[in-house]
Amino acid sequence: MEFSRNFTKTQMIHVIFVLAATILVRSNVAYCRHFHHHSWDYFEYCAISCRAHTASLTDFGGVGDGTTSNTKAFQAAIDHLSQFESDGGSMLFVPPGKWLTGSFNITSHFTLFLHKDAVLLASQDESDYAVIEPLPSYGRGRDTAGGRYISLIFGTNLTDVVITGDNGTIDGQGEPWWDKFHKGELQYTRPYLIEIMYSQNIQISNLTLVNSPSWHVHPVYSSNIIVQALTIIAPVTVPNTDGINPDSCTNTRIEDCYIISGDDCIAVKSGWDEYGIAFAMPTKQLVIRRLTCISPKSAVIALGSEMSGGIEDVRAEDILAIDSESGIRIKTAIGRGGYVKDVYVKGMTMKTMKWAFWMTGNYGSHADNNYDPNALPVIQNINYRDMVAENVTMAGMLEGIPGDKFTGICISNVTITLAKKAKKVPWNCTDVEGISSGVAPPPCDALPDQGSEYLASCDFPTESLPVDNLEVQTCSYRRKNSFDNHVLKHL
Ligand SMILES: *[C@@H]1O[C@H](CO)[C@@H](O)[C@H](O)[C@H]1NC(C)=O
Ligand SMILES: *[C@@H]1O[C@H](CO)[C@@H](O)[C@H](O)[C@H]1NC(C)=O
Ligand SMILES: *[C@@H]1O[C@H](CO)[C@@H](O)[C@H](O)[C@H]1NC(C)=O
Ligand SMILES: *[C@@H]1O[C@H](CO)[C@@H](O)[C@H](O)[C@H]1NC(C)=O
Ligand SMILES: *[C@@H]1O[C@H](CO)[C@@H](O)[C@H](O)[C@H]1NC(C)=O
Ligand SMILES: *[C@@H]1O[C@H](CO)[C@@H](O)[C@H](O)[C@H]1NC(C)=O
Ligand SMILES: *[C@@H]1O[C@H](CO)[C@@H](O)[C@H](O)[C@H]1NC(C)=O
Repeated sequence: MEFSRNFTKTQMIHVIFVLAATILVRSNVAYCRHFHHHSWDYFEYCAISCRAHTASLTDFGGVGDGTTSNTKAFQAAIDHLSQFESDGGSMLFVPPGKWLTGSFNITSHFTLFLHKDAVLLASQDESDYAVIEPLPSYGRGRDTAGGRYISLIFGTNLTDVVITGDNGTIDGQGEPWWDKFHKGELQYTRPYLIEIMYSQNIQISNLTLVNSPSWHVHPVYSSNIIVQALTIIAPVTVPNTDGINPDSCTNTRIEDCYIISGDDCIAVKSGWDEYGIAFAMPTKQLVIRRLTCISPKSAVIALGSEMSGGIEDVRAEDILAIDSESGIRIKTAIGRGGYVKDVYVKGMTMKTMKWAFWMTGNYGSHADNNYDPNALPVIQNINYRDMVAENVTMAGMLEGIPGDKFTGICISNVTITLAKKAKKVPWNCTDVEGISSGVAPPPCDALPDQGSEYLASCDFPTESLPVDNLEVQTCSYRRKNSFDNHVLKHL
């Protein structure tokens, strides 16, 4: 192995680094600092668990030349490391280089760590992606009926998984997939970049993800998930490249992410029509903070359109939206069933938007024609406050469902400055009801103004969610090299 167990011969140096790191971490629990030492290849990183065993991809024949396939090296490395699941866990280190790879599966009590100059290049060859069953809550692939290509990094039925790095890159090389999607040439649904299913205690952090064939990060049927400090970039002209999609997940915390996408920056989901209703697994207890989003064709935060298992208790704050189609968007349709309730958003700044607020009750887009026309979604208790938006084409397009009003909408302390070429009517509300306070321009009659004393009337819960107690700790490891050995001799 290229690496030794952590905290062995170099304990003294470690102690110094760890103490320094601990002091910094204590001083600001939201952040976890890391250090690089120029003389030794030390890495300090923050994770929900540290690992006893570490190996490098090169120990398993990995070649980082950008053209050699590393699929087998990844699989061999992870097969080998999986033996340490109950012996302190393991970490696979990806060194600087360009590592072409097809899909690989990860394991439990496992960390994948990308060096800052490591780039995983996703293979563009369809045969490098196994075809797997559609998600049970969707009933079919989203692009085509039937199966779907497995994601580049895939995990199922796992516990304690960390995918992180020092801002290393995972490049989905999505172009041929986008082309085939446009031309209708796909046999199966496009792969995601990272998908973790039926798992718990997941951290995905400090990475740059680019050009996924479709969604970038997809935790599904999982709980206790931290997504931190991701930079996600895809061309704004390409299809379905959502940033982060918590789907039928409980207790998810998304923070400090910067996303530019051709689709929604964050899309909260929970299954599709009759399949989602039958699967009945909501997304709940979701917190989104300190997000910067550019999504000219779509939403900063979308709830739906697949929401048939329900979406509840969503809290979003400190959001910066630039040049995006809409700020918060609720998308649903007759036949979805399910619900979107107890949604709280505050502290959002929006610059150049088509619709600051958008609710769409007739989104359509059905899995098949077997949806139940009596399955009406329940949309209630939606709270937006403390926002400023400028250069906005239309303040709000709030369209419920005839005979199925969206209720309990509360908008307060929101100032929207309309664009020069704004729509004549800034708000258009149908089949919705609620209240407002301190909103400019004045909202539609369906949201009557309660007066300025109700400025802070829209709820935002003060108690924290369990996922806020899922803490990261400082982990460290050192990379053994000749220079390092030389230094050790003189200790
Ligand atoms: C990970 O991101 C956090 C939040 O931005 C940052 O404080 C921390 O230093 C980063 N850690 C590493 C190892 O890059
Ligand atoms: C990865 O897991 C999926 C689902 O369990 C399976 O279909 C696939 O064959 C696995 N891939 C490898 C390379 O083992
Ligand atoms: C994974 O967990 C799900 C839900 O508990 C279960 O239905 C499925 O059989 C499990 N799959 C494997 C490969 O263990
Ligand atoms: C990570 O890399 C991206 C892309 O190069 C860059 O825009 C971003 O600022 C980097 N983030 C950090 C925390 O260094
Ligand atoms: C109104 O919102 C702004 C941010 O846009 C905030 O600074 C201010 O405290 C809010 N006022 C009240 C009364 O909550
Ligand atoms: C306002 O939005 C329009 C597009 O709707 C854009 O062309 C223009 O540059 C924006 N102006 C400012 C000041 O951001
Ligand atoms: C408001 O929206 C409804 C439903 O989409 C549409 O039929 C109507 O024309 C709109 N009204 C205005 C004034 O834009």
